[in-house]
Amino acid sequence: MGMITLGILGSGAGSNMQAILDAIDAGALDARVGIVLSDHPDAHILERAELKGIRAGVIDCSGHSMKFPDVAQEETARKLREAGVELVCLAGFMRMVKRPLLDAFPSRILNIHPSLLPVFPGLEAWRQAVEAGVSESGVTVHLVDAGMDTGLILGQERVSVFPDDTPEMLHARLQAAEHRLYPAVIGRYAAQLMQ
Ligand code: GRF
Repeated sequence: MGMITLGILGSGAGSNMQAILDAIDAGALDARVGIVLSDHPDAHILERAELKGIRAGVIDCSGHSMKFPDVAQEETARKLREAGVELVCLAGFMRMVKRPLLDAFPSRILNIHPSLLPVFPGLEAWRQAVEAGVSESGVTVHLVDAGMDTGLILGQERVSVFPDDTPEMLHARLQAAEHRLYPAVIGRYAAQLMQ
């Protein structure tokens, strides 16, 4: 089986991308990253990619703070294809992926979400969990469809919530779980795709 080429989209710090790169370097993930794209020119994820000599670029959303215009999605699909991407990994990407990208990469866009979906979809799931007073939460890797955090679940890891947890304390534990789960699920899913 040939080595799969990943494309990563992120809007922020890029710690999940870093976990993917670290797993590749450690020989724990048989993949390469062809390109990293962000909708924020100053996002740290781009610096992390450039530090590793990985092609990095910016997605131009024409000044929209939340919307992901179709033309920007088509441009993103083109850049991903140009880089030979076979599997797209959203890693803290804060815009909704729709038809142009979904059609370009059918069942080939993954996302990491910091809750045990379908519980706590949407923003700051770690804050939702603390405020709901649950004793357990976790993280989920799922296929991306046109909904928000609604695609087929591929893997989950549970994380305990303690009574004195602040949202920030829980988020830190959830991120540690993300950094274990995402590379593992990408590797399993990629192996199925490359069969
Ligand atoms: C992660 O907690 C992820 O679950 C959420 O946004 C955060 C991204 O963090 N979607 P990073 O940019 O990968 O560090």
